[in-house]
Amino acid sequence: MSTQHSTPNTQHAKRNVLVTGGAGYIGSHACQALKAAGYTPVVFDNLTTGHRKAVQFGPLVEGDIRDGAALKAAIEQYQPIAVMHFAALIAVGESVEKPADYYHVNTLGAWQILNAIRETSVGGHLIPFVFSSTAAVYGIPASSPISEDFPHQPINPYGQSKLMVEHMLLDYAHAYGLRSIALRYFNAAGASLDNSIGLENRNPTHLIPVALEALLGTRPELQIFGSDYPTPDGTAVRDYIHVADLATAHVAALEHLLKADNSTPAHMALNLGTGQGLSVDEITASIERVTGKVVPASKHPRRAGDPPALVANSTKAQTVLNWKPEHSDVETIVRTAYAWRQTLS
Ligand code: UFG
Repeated sequence: MSTQHSTPNTQHAKRNVLVTGGAGYIGSHACQALKAAGYTPVVFDNLTTGHRKAVQFGPLVEGDIRDGAALKAAIEQYQPIAVMHFAALIAVGESVEKPADYYHVNTLGAWQILNAIRETSVGGHLIPFVFSSTAAVYGIPASSPISEDFPHQPINPYGQSKLMVEHMLLDYAHAYGLRSIALRYFNAAGASLDNSIGLENRNPTHLIPVALEALLGTRPELQIFGSDYPTPDGTAVRDYIHVADLATAHVAALEHLLKADNSTPAHMALNLGTGQGLSVDEITASIERVTGKVVPASKHPRRAGDPPALVANSTKAQTVLNWKPEHSDVETIVRTAYAWRQTLS
């Protein structure tokens, strides 16, 4: 696997943050937020699903997280003060068909990064690690809202592959003093407020991008999976959080780790959501209200593995990080997603 480095940035090493997957959807928004907070995001991405044009806030190192030597070279060159790790395979359905790929990229890839951090550490100090985790670690929870101490029972290899990394982080905290925060996202949605970056996926499976494609006529319709759930309108309820809010939570997590003292836990997991659930029908209605256009839709059976409701209790994140969602009202989510989608067609 080859590694190419663009413009070196060693002179600002004290503010460099290595961002794996920084050319992807959530990673690129985190880079934007890092830049706004005065850091330089150094993107490490193999560009298989990420996009070169999303790397707008710092240098790009083209490399694969399964390549330990490339990771070590990037850390040695840029001397980051921390790592944010986004690079991953993220399709739940695909993870059931191709578990080997998911454990290879998501679990072994994370191990390679942690190993590179250990092998480049100076004087036994490991740079802190912010991990992109998921609500999929909860599987099908017995109730909602969900707090961090709910049972961790993923129902697919995607969720398992991420939970295994969380277990590694806990063990590395105890054994090697690694400081880390795992951020468990609920439903990431929306695009940057300045319309400069957004979801690039041309074959989306997530609700809002699919509904926008139906509305714009690039797919025949939105298939609504399940209208017999035990929810107020029968469609499934999710906690949609704006990607810009996820991004600022990452910066807050980074800064928490950078100023952490011995009294704070070396590893913790935090939910990132709004605490407000919206049903598929409510999202569709919001899209129609914001755009003034109709979403062609039809009702279908439930999608396998979909829980009726997934809503975060994110009190812990709000307290620990002194963070709260600012842009996660459904209008802002839909308006920014729609504006971005129009730049792609
Ligand atoms: N939905 C439809 N039609 C579609 C797409 C989605 O009705 O074409 C419904 C789903 O059935 C679900 C809701 O819209 O009820 C949201 O579905 P998404 O695919 O947008 O998101 P999920 O809640 O399935 O997935 C999210 C994250 C995953 C994570 C999972 C945890 O995107 O990464 O939550 O359960 F694994």
